[in-house]
Amino acid sequence: MARDKVIEAKNLKYRYPDGTVGIEKVDFELWSGEKVAIIGPNGSGKSTLLEILGGLIEPTEGYVKFFGKESIDKYELRRRVGIMLQNPDDVLFNPTVREDLEFGPAQLQMEKEEFNKILEGISQLLDLKLYLNKPPFRLSKGEKQKAALGSVLALKPEVLLLDEPFSAVDIGAKQSMIKYLNRLNEDGVTIVVTAHDLTTVPLLADRVYLLNKRLIAEGSTRDTLTNAELLKNNGLEVPPLVELGLRLGINLVPLTVDEAVRRLRERFCL
Ligand SMILES: Nc1ncnc2c1ncn2[C@@H]1O[C@H](COP(=O)(O)OP(=O)(O)O)[C@@H](O)[C@H]1O
Ligand SMILES: [Mg+2]
Repeated sequence: MARDKVIEAKNLKYRYPDGTVGIEKVDFELWSGEKVAIIGPNGSGKSTLLEILGGLIEPTEGYVKFFGKESIDKYELRRRVGIMLQNPDDVLFNPTVREDLEFGPAQLQMEKEEFNKILEGISQLLDLKLYLNKPPFRLSKGEKQKAALGSVLALKPEVLLLDEPFSAVDIGAKQSMIKYLNRLNEDGVTIVVTAHDLTTVPLLADRVYLLNKRLIAEGSTRDTLTNAELLKNNGLEVPPLVELGLRLGINLVPLTVDEAVRRLRERFCL
């Protein structure tokens, strides 16, 4: 089955009003059903690129095309592409978390019944029930991050753009978020995440863009994350399991603990 191109961006450049170049010379393509990660060190332009891909800011140079259309209505874009910003304080602005979760769906005139069903699922998944009636500013950073993700998921977008979604949540929440995002992807949702900590990338992405203001590399998660030289040259930490695999000379370098266990068992007959 031919897949649809969700986003096509060419030669993107973004210059902030103070003259700082956020990104330049970046090409990006996203196909329906993909799971893609944008990686790069701090200040490499991940958030800038994601905001362009979410249609929140327009590139200073180059173009971005959504769903193969020459131009797209903002309303259609908001309905189909959900973006979770890096700083949850930028998206949680209602008196309570519940109202923050209701806000987007209400704007898009979602049926109350459908919303309630979604809300139930999301609050269970993200363990948000205790916080629904609290003001967002009372939450911890990790709780805010979960609420911000909830407010994007509540819209049931076809495409999810998530800016470092796990940076402040605890390990349990991280694991359940990753599991849920993979399930959404199996149901057809296209996912883009940004990360500077590479440990979660193999669990959530098949393809990777490496950014360092410019586009440095694009390829499969395996090829990119096992290229220690490339990662180091661009200010990224080589994932410990990859380092271990490379030093032991195991031909299929493990990217996840499960994979490492399998490879080591094979190799050492454990
Ligand atoms: N509002 C802004 N005004 C000026 N410069 C900015 C602004 N936001 C980000 N930048 C700069 O743009 C570059 C890319 O930033 P950003 O996209 O936030 O990177 P990342 O998300 O990878 O950490 C950095 O040099 C950063 O300092
Ligand atoms: Mg960022």
